[in-house]
Amino acid sequence: MVLAALTGAAMADDAGTLFGKNCAACHGKDGSGNTPAGKKLNVKDFTDPKVQAEMKDEEMIKAIKEGIKDGGKTKMKPFGEKLSDEDVKALVAYVRSFKK
Ligand code: HEC
Repeated sequence: MVLAALTGAAMADDAGTLFGKNCAACHGKDGSGNTPAGKKLNVKDFTDPKVQAEMKDEEMIKAIKEGIKDGGKTKMKPFGEKLSDEDVKALVAYVRSFKK
C-alpha cells in the first residue's frame, strides 16, 4: 500500500496502480477477493473462469461507475466521479486479466 501511494502520482493512468489504490482492499491484489473485507462482503473470485464468463463488460463498467448496493446498503462505492471513462475501461481489462 505504501508503495502504491508512492508510485501513484507518477503512474496515475496505470490500471494496476489504480486497482491497487482503489480496489485491492476488497478484491485483493490478485483479484481473488481473498482479503478480510472481501470475505466479509463476499466478493467474487476474479481468477475463476466461471466468474469471468458470468460478468458482462457493461455490468462491470456499471458496477465500477455506479457501485453496488444491497438493499439500502452500499457494498461497493461508486467510482464514476473519481475515475475517467478510460480509467474504468482500463480497470475492466485489468480485472479480465486476473482470469486463470
Ligand atoms: C468496499 C469494498 C470494495 C471496493 C473498494 C471495490 N469493490 Fe468491487 N465489489 C465489491 C462487492 C461487495 C461487489 C459485489 C460482490 C457480489 O455481490 O457479487 C463488487 C463487485 C465488483 C464487480 C463485479 C460486477 C458484476 O457484474 O458482478 C467488479 C467488476 C468490481 N467490483 C470491480 C471493482 C473495481 C475495478 C474496483 C476499484 C475501482 C472495486 N471493485 C472496488 C466490493 C468492493
